[in-house]
Amino acid sequence: MGFMDRQKEDWMNQLLLHFQFGKFIIVLVFMVVGLQVFHMTLLMKLETTAKGAGPSSSNHLRRQGDTNSDLKEIQRLAKTVMDKIADVHVSDISGMYHIIRNILCPKQIGKFGQGKHSENVTIVTQTSANHLENLVLLSRKWNGPISVSVFTHKDDAEFAVKSILYLRTCYPSIANKVSFHLVFPIDSTPSIDLINNLSKLSCSEPFGKTIQRQQKANYDSEIEYPHNLLRNIALKSATTTYIFMIDIDMVPSENLTVEFMRLIERRRTNQDFDIDKTAFIVPSFESKDWSIPRDKIKLLNAWESRNVRPFYYETCWKCQKPTEYDRWKKLFKTEIMDIGYNVEWKDPWEPFYIASANTPLYDERFKQYGFNRISQVCELHVAGYEFAVLNNAFLVHKGFKVTGNFHKSKDKEQEKNRMLFRKFKNQLKTRYPNSPRRC
Ligand SMILES: *[C@@H]1O[C@H](CO)[C@@H](O)[C@H](O)[C@H]1NC(C)=O
Ligand SMILES: *[C@@H]1O[C@H](CO)[C@@H](O)[C@H](O)[C@H]1NC(C)=O
Ligand SMILES: *[C@@H]1O[C@H](CO)[C@@H](O)[C@H](O)[C@H]1NC(C)=O
Repeated sequence: MGFMDRQKEDWMNQLLLHFQFGKFIIVLVFMVVGLQVFHMTLLMKLETTAKGAGPSSSNHLRRQGDTNSDLKEIQRLAKTVMDKIADVHVSDISGMYHIIRNILCPKQIGKFGQGKHSENVTIVTQTSANHLENLVLLSRKWNGPISVSVFTHKDDAEFAVKSILYLRTCYPSIANKVSFHLVFPIDSTPSIDLINNLSKLSCSEPFGKTIQRQQKANYDSEIEYPHNLLRNIALKSATTTYIFMIDIDMVPSENLTVEFMRLIERRRTNQDFDIDKTAFIVPSFESKDWSIPRDKIKLLNAWESRNVRPFYYETCWKCQKPTEYDRWKKLFKTEIMDIGYNVEWKDPWEPFYIASANTPLYDERFKQYGFNRISQVCELHVAGYEFAVLNNAFLVHKGFKVTGNFHKSKDKEQEKNRMLFRKFKNQLKTRYPNSPRRC
């Protein structure tokens, strides 16, 4: 090797060293930037969750336990679930659906008591598997039991069961409050070996990463969606004196349970009204960016700035208008929850309300789109219920409902249900022969 060569080699080594040092600096810079971005996303996530935002932002509420014990719990629950599916023998009155009530019960079941004697309000709701994740926010915001019917069928059962197992294991608020009921068509029973690969379920992974999401809407399947059957099952399974039927993508105002029970306590001694024949209306709204105002004052501000508006404002105003939102707006927020005013029932009003658990059931013939809640409210009216609007309480739907977002068979289904509704109203006359009320 010549002198020149050696010099060249030294120079090359220096260059290499220099280069490596440069690389080191670059890596360092990337790491710092990376950490910053990570930090910022984390902060943003925390912030959106604090505002009560979307499903993917609910991660930090998840249990951060150890993976082994999570898996053991998931396997234990999976066995319960699969045994119950294998042993299913109860069907609905039409003989078309299998029903498994309380396929999983909340851990705190003792707290809510058995039977209908526990003085509390249960949220009753229903969903297909792809909206189950809404339970994360709902269970955090609602301080009382939640009874949810989940509709599934053969093709979707693996997703449904895995979602239930994951949510129930990984979120303490769900484990403590939610009872799950499973419903599926008799000719579409889930196969019992559908959950072979449970080891992939882990609370340290976000929902969407552990479980393959499905993006289909409730109505898009070939199989008809039986809203009212699902609602009745959730309702009959509630173990408290009062129930609050809502959609799973809605969130009630803070402290509603406690304040409502205080109102009942105060009013119980009043002779002038019959609690068991009162529907306590909770005015419902929709929120543009999914943020959920904590109290009425914050809600009114959001309404003022057009981030919140009355529910169905665009899609079916006459379905909500009888709540008299302007009147509600003018009621000053008081310290205690009370009845703001009473309203008359008007067709086709479909408010959300809290009522005694003995409320008339939903007519299970209504499936798919249209008249499924309207018909039940119409029955309340004929059965002699009064409609009392609560002064401070409200309910917020996550996202604006806009026209043009409906599935393609909506009009056909609505027409079919309109005919059924006519029949239903005639049958009410026979069922309540002494009622002076009609709808
Ligand atoms: C309803 O149940 C919840 C959850 O157990 C409890 O914290 C709350 O105090 C109960 N409400 C009333 C009014 O008993
Ligand atoms: C279970 O997971 C393994 C590895 O991830 C995969 O190869 C296998 O096909 C899965 N089995 C089923 C039944 O999904
Ligand atoms: C709910 O109740 C808690 C405890 O009493 C209270 O600190 C909080 O301010 C209440 N929230 C609202 C929105 O009134």
